[in-house]
Amino acid sequence: MFNDETIELNDEVFRLLRDLIYKSSGVWFDDNSKDILRMRITNSLQRRQFKDFKDYYFFLRYDREKDNELANLIDIVTNHETYFFREMAQLKAFSEEILPEIKERKEKDGKKEIKIWSAGCSTGEEAYTIAMLFLELKMLNNWNIEIFATDISHRVLHSARRGIYQKHAFRATEPAMISKYFIQDEHGYKISDKVKEKVNFGYFNLLDSDKSVFINRMDVIFCRNVIIYFDTAAKKKIIEMFYEKLNNLGFLLLGHSESLINISTAYTLRHFKNDMVYQKILKEI
Ligand SMILES: C[S@@+](CC[C@H](N)C(=O)[O-])C[C@H]1O[C@@H](n2cnc3c(N)ncnc32)[C@H](O)[C@@H]1O
Repeated sequence: MFNDETIELNDEVFRLLRDLIYKSSGVWFDDNSKDILRMRITNSLQRRQFKDFKDYYFFLRYDREKDNELANLIDIVTNHETYFFREMAQLKAFSEEILPEIKERKEKDGKKEIKIWSAGCSTGEEAYTIAMLFLELKMLNNWNIEIFATDISHRVLHSARRGIYQKHAFRATEPAMISKYFIQDEHGYKISDKVKEKVNFGYFNLLDSDKSVFINRMDVIFCRNVIIYFDTAAKKKIIEMFYEKLNNLGFLLLGHSESLINISTAYTLRHFKNDMVYQKILKEI
């Protein structure tokens, strides 16, 4: 066995690796994060039986299996932390203020459909939370609701589709919601079919703006706790792509510690009772 302390990551190889990760995912490791990156990828190096990071880097660039290994590396270096009913104030703004507003507007246009995108959905808790909020909101019962959830990691998508969760996923969930929407067995808590059928999961790299042509126009985009790990250029690219993908008057919901300051002036910050969220408002010419 190798001892990870003995495998050195020199500055040159660190930069090569972090640039490769950045170009493939947008996740940025600054000069102070060398040790974090080294610790996170030492296991992958050992699994592939490389003795130094340079050989591993060349494998990632040129081997026949490079795509698989790069996907594995990105999965390892990204944060997948998530849980049900995360950031409740914002979710309240969504179900009590934003959805009624969208409903009223759509009814005027004679369209009973709402499209939501959970971008960077991890293991599915966010998308299933949105589905449960819809089920709780009886006023949208006979509407066509589409919840599309995407991530760059195949591993988390597999887990999301499986829909079985452990206790730590419920740290912000009321017990009544657990008994209503989950079935407990020896594997954990299984999401009920009526929630599951509302969500479609798919692979999408947020930096791949060319492929966004396959994504429909949305009424609300949740992209929470994802771009926080990106540098400014990658953030700008993604936020611009979201602007294209939102219907006029559509909403963009970011994580609590995230904002569009220095990223974009295209959105309007709406002040709701429960939270502040970004909205696309086309200026009339
Ligand atoms: C911290 S989780 C956030 C999950 C959820 N949105 C929440 O707030 O609870 C961030 C997710 O973003 C995904 N991610 C990171 N870079 C991405 C990219 N370039 N394209 C798509 N997803 C990405 C990660 O794989 C991870 O599952």
